[in-house]
Amino acid sequence: MSSRPARSTWFLIIILIAAIGAAAWIYFGPGYKTSPLPVLEHSEKPNAKESANQNENSDANDNENSAEQRAALEELITNADVRRGHSLIHMCIECHTFDEDGPVRFGPNLFGIVGARHASKEGFAYSEALKSMQDKIWTQDNLNAFLTGTQTYAPGSRMTYPGVPKAEDRADIIAYLKTLKP
Ligand code: HEC
Repeated sequence: MSSRPARSTWFLIIILIAAIGAAAWIYFGPGYKTSPLPVLEHSEKPNAKESANQNENSDANDNENSAEQRAALEELITNADVRRGHSLIHMCIECHTFDEDGPVRFGPNLFGIVGARHASKEGFAYSEALKSMQDKIWTQDNLNAFLTGTQTYAPGSRMTYPGVPKAEDRADIIAYLKTLKP
């Protein structure tokens, strides 16, 4: 009477061990082939690079471009077509004048803007967004950033113009703006 339950208990234990073994093999077996180590290495490397790039970006002057972007812009501006830049400002003349002592339109006059402080033109009521940047000089880099996305560069700026999407166009416009000096 006592041997029967003992046998079925052993049987159950053996089945259980086999089941655990099978489960363990299924769970860990394939895992050995694609061991987690190389997978981690793969996903860690780009992440490390990304955060290094982000650091580089935030270290770069102001909230503008990385060194690479500045170099790319420099090259575009070196090879820029000033006359084309002049014709591209048809996008801006609805709101800006470009000649010396030109009047204020919806936006300030832009003569001599490269090298001038932000929001420094007399007689124009700038937004708080640009006024809070008055200690900054307009350079080709931050003009490029502003013209890429006014609201990204100066959130709340009254220049709600969506921006000039093509890098070449921005470079030509900036090259033209650089010629506007006394
Ligand atoms: C729809 C009107 C409008 C258009 C189009 C427009 N702007 Fe503006 N722009 C403004 C206004 C308004 C301001 C002042 C923004 C502020 O106070 O926040 C401004 C400010 C600026 C400033 C900063 C001036 C300063 O004194 O700090 C620059 C540079 C500028 N615009 C360049 C351009 C260029 C280049 C174009 C054409 C590609 C252009 N804008 C098109 C309305 C416009």
